[in-house]
Amino acid sequence: MTTPSGYLELAGVEKRFGETAVLHGIDLSIAEGEFVSLIGPSGSGKTTTLRIITGTDEPTSGAVRLRGEDITFVPAHKRGFAMVFQHFALFPHKNVYDNVAYGLQLRGTAKRELTERVTTMLERVHMREYASRRVNELSGGQRQRVAIARALVIEPRLVLLDEPTGALDAKLRLRMQSQLKELHRELGLTFVHVTHNQSEALALADRVFVMNDGRVEQSGPPASVFNAPATRFVADFVGRNNLIDGTVEGGDFVTALGTFALNGRVARDGLRGSCTAVIRSDSLRLGEPPEGCPRLEAELQALEYGGSFVTWFLHAAGTALQLDLRAEESGELEPAIGRRYRVWWKPEDAHYLCND
Ligand SMILES: Nc1ncnc2c1ncn2[C@@H]1O[C@H](COP(=O)(O)OP(=O)(O)O)[C@@H](O)[C@H]1O
Ligand SMILES: [Mg+2]
Repeated sequence: MTTPSGYLELAGVEKRFGETAVLHGIDLSIAEGEFVSLIGPSGSGKTTTLRIITGTDEPTSGAVRLRGEDITFVPAHKRGFAMVFQHFALFPHKNVYDNVAYGLQLRGTAKRELTERVTTMLERVHMREYASRRVNELSGGQRQRVAIARALVIEPRLVLLDEPTGALDAKLRLRMQSQLKELHRELGLTFVHVTHNQSEALALADRVFVMNDGRVEQSGPPASVFNAPATRFVADFVGRNNLIDGTVEGGDFVTALGTFALNGRVARDGLRGSCTAVIRSDSLRLGEPPEGCPRLEAELQALEYGGSFVTWFLHAAGTALQLDLRAEESGELEPAIGRRYRVWWKPEDAHYLCND
């Protein structure tokens, strides 16, 4: 895949706090109008990267460029970027209209234009009828919409969102996600979004950057990162994957759970040395496998009911496995904790990551 040419670029960005290196050389290139998400576990460097983009912090080395221009040391308030935080940062005693108008007033926008832009933006986030309501009289979801309106009304050159739905309950989060996506489509602005919630990133982003320990481990469209994780870390972090470690010996994959024939894949996929088989939780199956399918025995340890499907948590030779079944199918099997089950998969549903 070719990387879209850079509207915003980070080149070799490193950050140290005293002796501690927190970012180890971040390279990012984001196209104008793109919606990108930085995802990764807590402490992986997402917020630090975002602060360097906004100008609230400076890198120890490396550069930040906007349309090719070096902005590494341009102060935050001169970048023309907008920030949406998890904790809103609204003026609680001002009304909705004044909160949204604030950035335009600072810029000395003429009264008529200001009224028009604020009103249009309030309509876009479905808050026009609340214009004269004070912020501290609004629900969390409404406050978040005001915060988004306030950020976008200045037509920023870049919109940065740090865990924007983190303070909302699950149902509201989904509504807010579809609204963010819609605003992005309508306004054509460039969005850089940070989250530890992978399903949010997969739902919103044109491209995701998976961060681990101050590095970008993989980037690409959500579907490609999801379906073809490039490293064991990404396979573990993104999606609902089973990871089985082993070594390729001759034509076989030798693991603590058993030895599985790799057939033609050793040559075709260039498998060698120590590898991890990655199998999605909806690709593991139960029961009698067809001829030629890898199989093993595992003990059922727990069940988790997720509405239309049930997740089975199993254990085999020190390896945790998880398997998603449709609720009816799971019910028919009358699962019993502690019982052993035959688990199998189709050879083509295993994706191998090898170290060398
Ligand atoms: N001002 C600071 N001083 C020292 N260490 C910091 C500072 N800010 C962040 N860190 C450390 O940098 C690492 C990355 O933090 P952060 O960027 O906030 O991660 P994330 O947003 O992915 O959770 C963490 O180990 C954190 O403790
Ligand atoms: Mg953070």
